[in-house]
Amino acid sequence: MTLNALNFPAIGFGTYKAASSEVISRAIEAGYRYFDTASFYETERFIAQAISQSSMKREDFIIASKLWKADMGYKQALEAFNKTLDNLNTNYLDVYMIHWPRPDLELQDWKALDLETWQALEELYSQGKIKALGLSNFLPYHAENIMTHCNIKPLIAQFEFHPGYTQAFALNYYRERNILVQAWSPTGRGRVFNDELITELAEKYNISPSQLCLAFCLSENVMPIPKASSLEHMKANLESVNIVLEPEDISRLENMPPAGWSGEHPDRVRIKI
Ligand SMILES: NC(=O)c1ccc[n+]([C@@H]2O[C@H](COP(=O)([O-])OP(=O)(O)OC[C@H]3O[C@@H](n4cnc5c(N)ncnc54)[C@H](OP(=O)(O)O)[C@@H]3O)[C@@H](O)[C@H]2O)c1
Repeated sequence: MTLNALNFPAIGFGTYKAASSEVISRAIEAGYRYFDTASFYETERFIAQAISQSSMKREDFIIASKLWKADMGYKQALEAFNKTLDNLNTNYLDVYMIHWPRPDLELQDWKALDLETWQALEELYSQGKIKALGLSNFLPYHAENIMTHCNIKPLIAQFEFHPGYTQAFALNYYRERNILVQAWSPTGRGRVFNDELITELAEKYNISPSQLCLAFCLSENVMPIPKASSLEHMKANLESVNIVLEPEDISRLENMPPAGWSGEHPDRVRIKI
């Protein structure tokens, strides 16, 4: 299995809208060992169920979950973490992230709330209950608040990343600080599959648009966490670790016109696309 800088598998499995524990069992069968969840997705229990039904141990998996907006704050974060452990039927998490930097756009002092929340995560980390801390949907200026005041630095940053929406400033910010970047919606949830550059290059390499998007993430040292339902999609996505894109094609993908944005942004009300 190809591993990245944190010894995580090169590709993880996203569980947002994963409909049941059967989907997770299928992903285990396909070969996934890293699972991305969040209390908000309500898929934590599915992961616990699938692991208990597999022939493997908890330690054979890497599980990442996220603290939801409504649970920010020191005390609230500790409580939410315990609920997540309960849901996952485990006594530790491999990765725990703050899901969004600004739980409420009206809240002026979100920086203080982020720091208070981070302090709870640091405590859990020091107790060995979390192996790595992460930031989800933090732009550089949100992250800088944590970076300047924290005792324990984040090791992972997760944000929307795919051809047509690479958030290059955020990518460079985290790269310069040796923080592993993870791509959510690494295939733009299918929204870029019909783009003319994506179809041209998928044809050139004789791969699917989904595989092209994932190979692009990997070529940028970004860890994709695609979600899929069928065994066929799951396996095909894992195979993208074997695809090597030519530098010129990577550059074309980096510079293609904006496409496939989800409509989500940490400082804006969600736009329905
Ligand atoms: N931190 C955050 O705020 C945040 C936000 C969004 C997502 N995420 C995480 O990122 C994960 C992935 O993002 P996502 O689910 O939004 O989008 P995605 O993984 O880019 O796209 C998932 C969609 O692509 C389809 N698909 C997968 N493999 C395919 C293939 N080989 N060929 C054709 N279609 C394929 C899936 O269809 P089928 O299901 O029918 O196979 C599904 O509809 C989530 O599950 C979640 O864990 C995090």
